[in-house]
Amino acid sequence: AAGAPFQYIVAEKRGANQNVGLIQLNRPQALNALCAGLMREVKQALEAFESDPHVGAIVITGSEKAFAAGADIKEMQNNTFQQCYSTGFLDEWDRLSKVRKPVIAAVNGYALGGGCELAMMCDIIYAGEKAQFGQPEILLGTIPGAGGTQRLTRAVGKSLAMEMVLTGDRISA
Ligand code: COA
Repeated sequence: AAGAPFQYIVAEKRGANQNVGLIQLNRPQALNALCAGLMREVKQALEAFESDPHVGAIVITGSEKAFAAGADIKEMQNNTFQQCYSTGFLDEWDRLSKVRKPVIAAVNGYALGGGCELAMMCDIIYAGEKAQFGQPEILLGTIPGAGGTQRLTRAVGKSLAMEMVLTGDRISA
């Protein structure tokens, strides 16, 4: 429904009236780490659902083990500031926060780093018993660069946000 078959996601219309756009992150071997290809596909699926008049709301989910374990560490470990800045690194991620239809993150398992940030870009987070939210970037010597420092603060307050961002510790739903 959302166009061409994808490599890293499954996108289909669900529900009795086929009016829910479901995007399931499907890169299990990397715990749904958000590589550029995956994020490009998410953007394509979002745009298809947004322009489809039969779709009323969108759900983004992962697996029971991982919503998404973060930005793809292997892909970005050699990035320099210069490269990130001049190529607009993470620019496409923002698309999600601009979708005008309600977007729900259905989270179970790891929602870490960029995965937590992706969930927070959605309008609603529906979290399961096994959900684990965290911003462990500090453990890699970087910071939550896709809105985490702002959105987490709004979601859980300054104290807990600082604790999570400065320690990398995770919280449950
Ligand atoms: N980027 C790229 N690959 C990742 C990844 C990430 N963020 N998170 C997990 N993976 C890969 C692992 O490298 C591994 O692949 P491999 O078998 O080819 O080495 C695979 O996913 C499974 O991960 P593994 O660490 O073996 O699973 P685990 O159950 O032991 O641990 C985590 C799960 C989430 C605790 C652990 O994977 C982790 O800490 N990931 C990084 C989280 C992170 O720092 N995210 C923020 C990035 S900015």
